[in-house]
Amino acid sequence: MRGAKVYFFLYEKIFLCKILRNILYKIFLIFARMLINQISKLKKAKNAIILAHYYTLPEVQDIADFVGDSLVLSKQAAVTQADIILFAGVHFMAETAKILSPQKKILIPDLNAGCSLADSCPAEELEKFLKNYPEHKVLSYINCSAKVKTLSDIIVTSGNALKIVNALPKDEKIVFTPDRNLGAYINKETGREMALWNGACHVHDQLTAEEIYKLKATYPKAKVLAHPECKATVLEVADFIGSTAAMLQFTKNDDAIAYIVATETGILYEMQKQNPTKQFYVVNNPITCSCNNCEYMKLNTLEKIYNALQTESPEIILEDELIKKAVYPIQKMFDY
Ligand code: 13P
Ligand code: SF4
Repeated sequence: MRGAKVYFFLYEKIFLCKILRNILYKIFLIFARMLINQISKLKKAKNAIILAHYYTLPEVQDIADFVGDSLVLSKQAAVTQADIILFAGVHFMAETAKILSPQKKILIPDLNAGCSLADSCPAEELEKFLKNYPEHKVLSYINCSAKVKTLSDIIVTSGNALKIVNALPKDEKIVFTPDRNLGAYINKETGREMALWNGACHVHDQLTAEEIYKLKATYPKAKVLAHPECKATVLEVADFIGSTAAMLQFTKNDDAIAYIVATETGILYEMQKQNPTKQFYVVNNPITCSCNNCEYMKLNTLEKIYNALQTESPEIILEDELIKKAVYPIQKMFDY
């Protein structure tokens, strides 16, 4: 596998002329096919499944048993009969899988696949903050650590947050963590006044309405889709707001021919696959001036997936006590 490592490095890191790049790409495909074969043999031999988020690399989505948003993947993790779940996503997702299936071995291809949103809410800080709200229910977006989940009453995802908040009594006092943008969006849509933890996802929070207007000037007929982790100024110019899966569904049912997409780039792969005749333009990150990639999601490479299945590591290990407390608010979410 050392040869593969060198080629992956060259392919991903070095800028080369077109001919050289094409040759390198063909070699990359040969190694990729070899790896894919090995991965599928390992999966069978070990009764393992691969769950992948829509933000992962196309080749990772292609080998996954299930590709989805946070809600769908957490449901899959809860019901699978496999002995091993390899989570091609980020750390909090693999942790959630462990909490829901403690008897299973949960692997993550790279332990550095964290999440800026989860990191923006350390459990110790949240604990202090919650002392100001003793009568409030604590709703936490699933993008948080297992410890933060233990401080929460109900977990929500971007796919079910509005439904769950609307189902709570009108006079229920609520603290929402950790995403201030998703929290503000829920407040606006439901007329609630939830107290918000001041956290954000760096990938979504950096997007601007100006970047959308620039694309709109070139593609005036394109509809704007936005993830609710974006700032209110971005959501204001959107034709549709929803989770990754909801945006995907929208593009399938809608009759527009083009879309400007304000979220992470990875979703475009599935969107284009499901809508081959439509055009998709991802909103550029104005700070990096390039595609809006979540660098954590892109740490999931075929090579790391192969290594993780082969060595059965890195594995997510959580204390039993933590699992017992954290599972409660997640199960609450499934009750709605
Ligand atoms: P969803 O999968 O709920 O759309 O959330 C997006 C995200 O940022 C995942 O980390
Ligand atoms: Fe976390 Fe944002 Fe990456 Fe999603 S896109 S995993 S919220 S950093």
